[in-house]
Amino acid sequence: MDGTLSANDLSHIVTADKAHVWHHLSQHKPWETSDPNILIEGKGMRVWNQAGKEHLDAVSGAVWTVNVGYGRERIAKAVYDQILKMNYFAGASGTVPGALFAEKLIGKMPGMSRVYYCNSGSEANEKAFKMVRQIAHKRYGGKKHKILFRDRDYHGTTIGCLSAGGQDERNEQYGPFAPGFVRVPHCLEYRRHEQDGAPEDNYGEWAADQIEKVILAEGPDTVGALCLEPVTAGGGVIAPPEGYWPRVQEICRKYDILLHIDEVVCGVGRTGTWFGYQHYGVEPDMVTMAKGVASGYAAIACLVTTEGVFDLFKSDETDPMDYFRDISTFGGCTAGPAAAIENMAIIEDENLLQNTTDMGAYMLDRLGELKERHAIVGDVRGKGLFLGAELVTDRDTKDPVEEARVKAVVGDCMAQGVIIGATNRSVPGRNNTLCFSPALIATKDDIDEIVSAVDGALGRVFG
Ligand SMILES: Cc1ncc(COP(=O)(O)O)c(C=O)c1O
Repeated sequence: MDGTLSANDLSHIVTADKAHVWHHLSQHKPWETSDPNILIEGKGMRVWNQAGKEHLDAVSGAVWTVNVGYGRERIAKAVYDQILKMNYFAGASGTVPGALFAEKLIGKMPGMSRVYYCNSGSEANEKAFKMVRQIAHKRYGGKKHKILFRDRDYHGTTIGCLSAGGQDERNEQYGPFAPGFVRVPHCLEYRRHEQDGAPEDNYGEWAADQIEKVILAEGPDTVGALCLEPVTAGGGVIAPPEGYWPRVQEICRKYDILLHIDEVVCGVGRTGTWFGYQHYGVEPDMVTMAKGVASGYAAIACLVTTEGVFDLFKSDETDPMDYFRDISTFGGCTAGPAAAIENMAIIEDENLLQNTTDMGAYMLDRLGELKERHAIVGDVRGKGLFLGAELVTDRDTKDPVEEARVKAVVGDCMAQGVIIGATNRSVPGRNNTLCFSPALIATKDDIDEIVSAVDGALGRVFG
């Protein structure tokens, strides 16, 4: 750390934070007698806190965001230059970085053609839901308005997004929710024994068929869209089973249901392709993205659609209701697309998709070794540098390890200077998966350091 803040400054910052900041997803009671972690500086894969302690960040800013790592001068400079020249204008007008990033992004998404800017994953998903509802009104007399979401998936924090939330602990105490959202079963093969009738063979197709059952029960003429994460994130790092996605696509086409893929976590390189769905040959109608789009250097989210979806909103210029009547004030900030252009260029110039594929495979192997060494590790899974390790007390029954002990593993790693994550306030009784999502620049040495910290922590907590 370069020491630009004195010990005095730092102690004032801690006091000010404790007195006035309400932190996200945090219990504040313990901070009456201890201090929150305050991050002062970041460089590459590492961050330093108020005590000057160095940490290796294995979760890209805790929530799968800083894909290209910390301290990227070229992004900072692009944002500086852009906001000095033209910082903002509302989205009914265009901006230079808005146009250029949209062009670049669409170049990575064959079949897609239009980019709607906003500033958080939740907001992008809300907009997709609004489009589905408006299409239902314009084409189907309001009938085809239901939106299907999947058990264990998460789409954001607003009441609308929580209505499509498949993680019951996250939703608890925030209801009532919006009507017209319907849950379909998850596709976590490791827990297929908990699903009635799940077969040993062709589980993926079976899991997709459960979606069709819900559609038939609801009535296909009432279902407008299916919203899915390509690889489920906070619900347990669930990579889809073989055969799942092709069948999902077939079902959507069969019943004229829009396929909305939530790439808020997977998007822009996390799994080793530009987008998670591109592993599975899927052709979505709508794709939402946020976190990694500008790696947290500026707030930006996008809802990307096909030209077919776009066309549905511009058929009659004399009709005052015939367009997407949505507003996003901060969707007009130019810092977002300016940062996103450089973020994407870094991924290309440094060949980070390949690195993600290679290092992801390496990390999955190394986590596999932990599974051999520790009976408590029931399953390791994921895609690219987006990995999880599910902890169970018994490999036969797959009973989950209690959450306090999962937290103890995370705490032990933190004490060693390695920041890892765990599913939390997510699926009731299933907050038992350790989460890893190092920046796409991770090296073998970084991964070895992460795995060795987890190895030590598992030994101490469960030894
Ligand atoms: C899959 C997924 N979708 C949407 C969101 C919401 O994004 P945001 O927090 O930017 O609103 C998240 C956040 O974690 C997410 O994991």
